[in-house]
This record gives sequence, structure tokens and C-alpha cells, in this order.
Amino acid sequence: MANAATIDAQADRIVDAMTLAEQISLTRTRAGASLKDLGVPLPAFIPEAMRIDKPEGSIGTAGFVPAIPRVGFPAQHQADASLGIADIGYLRPGQQSTSLPSTLSLAATFSPEAALEAGDIIGAEAFAKGINIMLAGGVNLAREPRNGRNFEYLGEDPLLAGRLVGQQIAGIQAHHVASTIKHYAVNPQESGRFVYDARMSEAALRESDLLAFEIGVRDGRPASAMCAYNKVNGLYACENPWLMNEVLKTDWGFKGWVMSDWGAVHSLHASVNAGLDQQSPQDKDFFAGLEAAVGDGSIERQRVRDMARRIVRAMIEVGAVEKVAKPGGEIPVEAHSARAQALAEAGIVLLKNDGILPLAATARKIVVIGRHADKGVPIGGGSSQVIPWGGVYRDAPEGTHPLSALMAPSYSLASPLKALAAALPNAEIQFDDGSNPARAAALAASADVAIVYAVKTEMEGIDHADLSLPWGQDDMIAAVAGANPRTVVVLQTGNPVAMPWLGKVGGVLQAWFSGQRGGDAIASILTGRVAPSGRLPISFPASTEQLPHPKIVGFDPAKQKALSIGVRYDPFPIDYVEGSDVGYRWFHLKGEKPLFPFGFGLTYTSFDYSGLKQTGGQTLKVTATIRNTGKREGLEVAQLYVAPPGRSIRLAGWARVQLKPGESRTVTIEADTWVLLSYDESAGKWARPAGDYRFFIGKSAGEPELSGSVFLNAAAQDRRR
Ligand code: BGC
Repeated sequence: MANAATIDAQADRIVDAMTLAEQISLTRTRAGASLKDLGVPLPAFIPEAMRIDKPEGSIGTAGFVPAIPRVGFPAQHQADASLGIADIGYLRPGQQSTSLPSTLSLAATFSPEAALEAGDIIGAEAFAKGINIMLAGGVNLAREPRNGRNFEYLGEDPLLAGRLVGQQIAGIQAHHVASTIKHYAVNPQESGRFVYDARMSEAALRESDLLAFEIGVRDGRPASAMCAYNKVNGLYACENPWLMNEVLKTDWGFKGWVMSDWGAVHSLHASVNAGLDQQSPQDKDFFAGLEAAVGDGSIERQRVRDMARRIVRAMIEVGAVEKVAKPGGEIPVEAHSARAQALAEAGIVLLKNDGILPLAATARKIVVIGRHADKGVPIGGGSSQVIPWGGVYRDAPEGTHPLSALMAPSYSLASPLKALAAALPNAEIQFDDGSNPARAAALAASADVAIVYAVKTEMEGIDHADLSLPWGQDDMIAAVAGANPRTVVVLQTGNPVAMPWLGKVGGVLQAWFSGQRGGDAIASILTGRVAPSGRLPISFPASTEQLPHPKIVGFDPAKQKALSIGVRYDPFPIDYVEGSDVGYRWFHLKGEKPLFPFGFGLTYTSFDYSGLKQTGGQTLKVTATIRNTGKREGLEVAQLYVAPPGRSIRLAGWARVQLKPGESRTVTIEADTWVLLSYDESAGKWARPAGDYRFFIGKSAGEPELSGSVFLNAAAQDRRR
């Protein structure tokens, strides 16, 4: 990789060889794919930008900017997103790619290495498909467990989400493919996403949502940041000078470019002067006015150069100018599918086990129950949707308009039923789709074990009103477990759910959206070929009454539409009363007990903690010995939570410890220095007051094993770069 001075010099050379019109052309993305290519009449609500002719040179991606061959600058092919190379509408020939487990599942690994691996797969496939910009890096904190896009994000903790997104981005960019980090910022629900005003104090913002971005920018050095649809403290994110110019570009020293979300731009001057560098496709092309604005002096010529230079520089830095991605590259489908399976296995969380798992070798008669459990595993919907190798099943009645079919609940053809049968060749397995609870219960009654694959699908643009499972599955599970307590529920959801049947079942696995070979991944855990090692990256509330907003602000069942296409809301504010105390921090503060706490997850063995030691003063280091007290090898994720004086607990670090039966290891976890700081708004600085910091090391935010208190000196930090 060239050094910064060389990159700067090359960027200057290329940008200064461009005319003003050429520089401006870089900042105006058009849709690279057209719904027209579906070849069916399009309903009136489909926006103009989605029905234009596919531009020449485009390979059919969400965004496209033509090349400028004269100066050696390649076209920009911008494709979604964080779970693989998306193409929801089959608009790009050869659209299939490796369907990774949901990003929330990735967060459940608590493994930066896994995030790097996921990014590596995405980057390799993007490059092989001729895509040089991935709209990946979704890191909005999960403030709302009913948000339809949490499956695309990395959970509720800024340190976990920030570290993992940084690695995911680095993995992508190692392939000469630029990545975004998105949606900047505070875009934690879909209801009213185009209009709501997310309100919070500056300190709370910096300590939570912005901290996740800041860590991601530091570790991953994304080429681009995508500003969000919503407003933040009164101004649209894409025309918010504080967010873009001040925090991102000045405080964090971000050298890349800010692109808008699709349709998130509302102005020319306000946006450009606030720091927006590139307008993504939408009906109203504000940036078409750039040349005139430079002409009449209302936008500075230098600012346009800066916009173009940011794009050029970032593309040079990731190597996308030197190594131009071209379609038709080789993709090792089998190897990537196997890696996707391993990632899915690492993200599965064992929530309950009364000894029923792993399935006994003696289990002969097994009943598999579940909607489409014979066909596949659910995948998330919306712009991030990947068409897996092997294809997709859309749960839409015959004759559905092809456009609506794209928005239907979708499944990767990775049949859990077939996978389990392959893993247990000697078992007699029967299947029931679960649509009739009495029938499913009758079948379960005579089985050694019943396994219910429960599903709750998610779609961009749509939030859920509550935490229940759809299609009567809660009642069905209760009936099955009533007939046979030896029931295991495999949850395949993009979010936390309530479990009214929890006390009746023998085991619960949270398998999320498990991707390309999800069926096999789940079978590996059920049979014990792989021991569960995932931990919850999001709290599972006992009820919505425990949440800062028991009802989603602005939720309107009539307006829950896929991708929010054609949905109109009147603007409304959302006051984030929890501030930076998102998720487990809120539960801790309020003394509420969730159903399952953040960080929770069992495995097939047990661990104990002993020998607590700590050092204070400048840094906080906590040492403990962890021993595997069970009969199987397993992975413990030892988590360090710290409460600054007068504040709630914060995840400050963790260690993943793989131990054989009887083995023990002493680990030292150093608290992340950024996490220990709080933002002092009046001084405009990060500060750590001197005082006693309570801490604990444990299995989750709700399960302290060893706790103590340590004196830390005062510290201040100006991390402006
Ligand atoms: C989503 C973005 C996505 C873009 C392009 C928008 O609807 O919010 O996350 O990158 O579409 O597909």
C-alpha cells in the first residue's frame, strides 16, 4: 500500500486533470439498475429513479457513476451490502453470491476475526463481479428491538459493533473494493425513516451511536460514509454540518467521501456546504445544479474539487484505481459456502438447555416442525438481500406480481430438514409444517425429540409492532411442547422475540438468519459436531414495557411497506430518553431484568471464574482464571463491564477463551480507554473523572462472576486528528 503522501499526490494529479464538469460527474450517482428490466408493468408508486433505462457501462448495481478514461479513473459500481453481494431483483446477470449469516449473527460471535473473514468473502466476491464499492458497514446501534433492519447491524453496544464493523470493512477493502460505513447517524427504526428527527444530547450521541462509527472509522478506514435518511437534532443527516463537517471530517479526520442514502438529499447548497460529497440516485437531482452554483459563486470551486478529490483519494487508497475490478472473476463457491457455514455456526446462541442438547445419539425418532423447514432458512429482505448460490424461495402465492414477490419472506435453499437427516443418518425423521398446532403436537407426542424451526422474517422499511412470532407459531410451540417437553426451539429471527412457551420447552437455540448453509450450521450445533459459542449482541426484553419506548414512536401498521416505497409520513421527533444508555445499560440503570441479557449464551460445558486481580491508576486491567468444569470442550466469552462513577455499566472489553475439559487459563482484559471516557459537552472534550470505578467480569451483562472496584486517575483526551 502506497504511503499517504504518494496517495495524496496521485489524487491531486488525477483530480486536477479533470474539468469542472468531470469533477462534478463523480459526485452524481445514478441508479445502475432499473426495475424496468424485470420486464413487467410497474405500479405507479415506483419512483422515477428506479425505472430509468440502465445507464451504459453499468453492470446493474444500486449505484453507478461512469468512468473518466481520459484521466484513468474507473467507473463506480456501488452494490449492497453487509451480508454478501446483494441483488434483490435479479437485475444483474450472474447475481448469485454467498449468502452470509445476518450481521447481527456476526456480532454474536464477539469475534473481530470472524468479521474480518466475512469482509474478506464479500470483498473477494465483489471484486470478482466487477463491483468496486460496497454499501456495507451497517452499524446503527440497536436502540429498537422491533426495528426491521437490526439484522443488517451489529447489535446494541458501541464497542462490540464498532470493533466488528471496522474489521468487516478492512476485510472488504483488502480486495481493492471500497466500503461505506452507514447509516450516519441514529437510524435505528424504519417507521418514518425518511422524516423523523432523532433527538439526543451531544454527549449521549458521542458516547453511543457515534462511538460505534468512530471506532469503525478508526479501525476500518472506510472509503466512504453514507449519511442517513432521518434528521439528527433538527437537521437532515445529509445536510447536517455538525455530523459531517465537524464530527466526521474534522474531529475524526475522515479523509473519505460522504455519500447520501438513496433519496436522502433535500437540498443542494445546505448539503454540499454541510459536507455531503456525493448524491445517490433519487428522483430529484439536486447536484445537477452544481455547475451553475459554482458559476454564480454560491458554492466554492474549491469545495467541488474537495468533493471529487475525496472520492478519487479514497478509491486510490483502497487500490481500486490501480486494480480495476471486472466482472467474470473466479469465485470459489464451495470454499466460500463452507466459510459462510462456519460463520453461521459461530453466531448461533444457545439460550436454554435442560440437557436435551446436543441430541443424544440414541434419539431415533425425531419430528421436525416448521414453516418451510423442509425448504430453507429465512434471509432478510430489502436492499441487502443476497440471492444465495442455489437460489431463493419466495413465500408468495402463485400469481403474485413479480415485484411483490421480491418483497415476500424469502429463504435460502439450505433445508434444515435435509441437513438434519444427513447429520443423523440412523434417525427416523418426520416433518410437519406446523400450520396446524394440534396435528404438529400429535406427531410430536410420540417422538423422542421434537425440533421446531420458528421463523420471523424482517424487511427493510418494516418494523414489527411487538415481539411475538408470526403465523401463530407461539401457540403452535406451546402445543408441541405441551405434548412433548422434549422440544427444542430453533429461533430464526432477525431480532429478539418474546418466548411465552420458554418454561415448557427443553432447549432454545437462536440461529438468526443463517445464510448459505444455515440448515447445516444449525444441524452441527444440534448434534454437537460444533459446540455453540455465540453470545447475544442485543438484549432480549421480557416485555416491551421495559423499553425506553414501549411503543415504537410513529409506528403505523398501514405504513409498514417494503423498503418504505411510496410511504409518506408527516415529520415527527423521537426523543431518545435513554441517551447513551442503550440496551443492557438501560436495563441496568432501571433495575429491569430482561428475558436474556446482552452477552448471554450457553455452551455444552460450564466454566468457573476465580483469582480476580486488578490494576488501576492510569488503566484498568482485570485478570481472572477461567476453568472448564464440564465434560466437553467449549468457548467462554469473558466480558468486562465497568461503571464510571454515577453512570451505568459499559462493556469495556472481552476475551474469547477456548478450553478443553478441566483446562483453565488466566486472562487479562484491559478496559478500552475510549469506553472509560465520557464526553464533557461544555469543555468539548472526552474526560475520565478520577474516582472509584466499579466493574465485573462475567458471562453477560446480567451475570457478574467476579466484581470489584478500582481507583482510576483523572484523564482527558482530545482525539481530534
Ligand atoms: C438503503 C441503503 C442502501 C441503498 C441502496 C437504501 O434504501 O437504506 O442501505 O445501501 O438503499 O440500495
